[in-house]
Amino acid sequence: MAEQAPAITLERVCKSFGPNRVLHEVSLVLPAGKILVMLGPSGTGKSVLLRCLVGLMKPDSGRIFIEGEDITALDERRSADRDKLFALRRKFGMLFQDGALFDDMCVGDNVAFPLRQHEKMSETEIAQRVKEYLDAVGLKDVQRKMPAELSGGMRKRVAFARAIALQPRIVLCDEPSSGLDPVMSATLDDLILDLHRRYNMTFVVISHDTAEARTIASHIGLLYKGVLQTFGTKEQVLRSNGEAINQFFDRSTKGPIQVL
Ligand SMILES: Nc1ncnc2c1ncn2[C@@H]1O[C@H](COP(=O)(O)OP(=O)(O)OP(=O)(O)O)[C@@H](O)[C@H]1O
Ligand SMILES: [Mg+2]
Repeated sequence: MAEQAPAITLERVCKSFGPNRVLHEVSLVLPAGKILVMLGPSGTGKSVLLRCLVGLMKPDSGRIFIEGEDITALDERRSADRDKLFALRRKFGMLFQDGALFDDMCVGDNVAFPLRQHEKMSETEIAQRVKEYLDAVGLKDVQRKMPAELSGGMRKRVAFARAIALQPRIVLCDEPSSGLDPVMSATLDDLILDLHRRYNMTFVVISHDTAEARTIASHIGLLYKGVLQTFGTKEQVLRSNGEAINQFFDRSTKGPIQVL
């Protein structure tokens, strides 16, 4: 049997906005079925990296392969590529940093949205799936509520339910635990581990939370000033004793990572 292609391969990915160099030659290989926790201080390019992965932003140079396919070679203007891009987006679930719920849709319709777009499921099946995932993120009796009626943490959990509704092969989570209390954050971590075990999903989780990295990561990356300072399996990274990663885990102001 042919060896399974890595879930994600980045080759010297660069992205700038005018003079602002945000990603500089970021390269990594994440095998399928792994959980990468990407750490890094604020403003360092983590969200931009996720947007590039899912095809919402194009790198200036470098290549991105998803399950072996070079997505940076795809051009939305070509009809053959549009089909491939649609198929590619089906592989991903994405939890945006701000949740990005549809404000004019109730919670149930938000979670059902990708199912209605991509799956030929009956409304009864959709209702079952929506309930299953809302239960999984600890939300009951909210289906008919509008996003504006929920707390920030509740909205984040609805967004997570929507991101996993299609049981995608790769789930990208931009700071899933920010704004959640520690118990809810641990519940979400358990859910990530459970989905990973049950469906062999690959996760990329952006986080500032080193405890979360210790709990769920198979791989850890540290992005600082657009450069991937550290990347490897959790064991490799925790053993590496690198200055930047130690500073992050020690929550110290002393070290290579400076606020200004
Ligand atoms: N669409 C855009 N246009 C111009 N600049 C952008 C755009 N998106 C991001 N940037 C810039 O890229 C840099 C990195 O932003 P990014 O959102 O990736 O940071 P981050 O690491 O996710 O930070 P945080 O932890 O605060 O979420 C910032 O300087 C930001 O201003
Ligand atoms: Mg961000």
